[in-house]
Amino acid sequence: MPGMAQRVAQFGTTIFSEINALAREHGAVNLGQGAPDFDGPPPVLAAAVSAINGQLNQYAPGLGMPRLREAVALHAERFYGQRLDPATEVAITAGATEAMFAAILGLTDPGDEVIVFEPVYDSYVPNMIMAGVTPRYVTLRDPDWTFDPDELAAAFNERTRAIIINTPHNPTGKIYSRDELQIIAELCQKHDVIAITDEVYEHITYDGATHNRMATLPGMAERTLTISSLGKTFSVTGWKIGWVMGPRGLVEGVNGAHQFITFAVASPLQAAAAAALSLPSTYFEELQATFQAKRDFLMGALKAAGFKVLKPQGAYFVMIDWRGAKGVPASVQDDVQFARWLITEVGVACIPPSAFYREADKHLAHHLARFAVCKKDETLQAAAERLRRLA
Ligand SMILES: Cc1ncc(COP(=O)(O)O)c(C=O)c1O
Repeated sequence: MPGMAQRVAQFGTTIFSEINALAREHGAVNLGQGAPDFDGPPPVLAAAVSAINGQLNQYAPGLGMPRLREAVALHAERFYGQRLDPATEVAITAGATEAMFAAILGLTDPGDEVIVFEPVYDSYVPNMIMAGVTPRYVTLRDPDWTFDPDELAAAFNERTRAIIINTPHNPTGKIYSRDELQIIAELCQKHDVIAITDEVYEHITYDGATHNRMATLPGMAERTLTISSLGKTFSVTGWKIGWVMGPRGLVEGVNGAHQFITFAVASPLQAAAAAALSLPSTYFEELQATFQAKRDFLMGALKAAGFKVLKPQGAYFVMIDWRGAKGVPASVQDDVQFARWLITEVGVACIPPSAFYREADKHLAHHLARFAVCKKDETLQAAAERLRRLA
């Protein structure tokens, strides 16, 4: 019987599906998946409805609606002083996920190498494998998730085509400092390598931390492709509107693939995305304050339950080190067992971070768990009540 190709058979199914199914089965409070359980801002939702009613329902241009490309460029200038030509240096994609796949397909050739930092967001490596590209891993080490500059330098060679940097980082909450980006930038320039940055959490930062944009570092504008999207900043993860920004040559490479993957993405949602990106700065400040309060509450609940919290600087998640917590039975030996136990015995779902590591490195995450912050206050309170029983 015909079946799936080897290309995808090797991926298997992710632990995320198992965790979600187990959480549903046991009625657990789900702090696993990184999607809000609340809606986006009413003016943005209204803009989508009015675009549908206003007959914006046919194909958009492949590169994206001009008004959205302009809004993306204006947003980049407003927050980072980055100057982009919306006609040639911005393209709209089906979320950051498609942007990354189109970037890998459009900017690398089979046999090239691409450097990633581990833990690594789960789509990047499968994207590379589908493109015939070899991943090279550099480890971020807990508890502060720094990398060894020598290990990074050793990962570059004549086959290196690109390096992917996700900041603020999922799952750790790390924000790459300007100094760290500078180290990466120097290596990119020395080896003529492209930096592809995934900045979907750019507006979710804590304790006054600043998100740094690689493309604004000296000498990096011409070799950086910046990826971001609407989902996290506007709590509309289901809309899947994303974009790439960068020099014309890189954007053309992405579009070379994008035109034959999706061609164009949802017109009315692009119109609403333009409205969203044009919201006043108070929207972005309020978003930050809301998430700060949620993160602080969740950190407090996890600490009260006896866990060591690895404080995130940004993004949607809080990681804990659960070793030695007195409520955890001795039979729980790794992060997958911990997540299953927490769902079935405590009624709270989290994600085992070993899902973000290659097989040989999964042990680096065996003592960790990842909890999502992006939930209604009542959801977080319900989780806190259940976790309190562990104390
Ligand atoms: C690091 C990172 N990149 C990309 C995405 C997906 O973004 P989008 O929904 O815009 O495709 C996520 C979502 O969880 C993420 O955490």
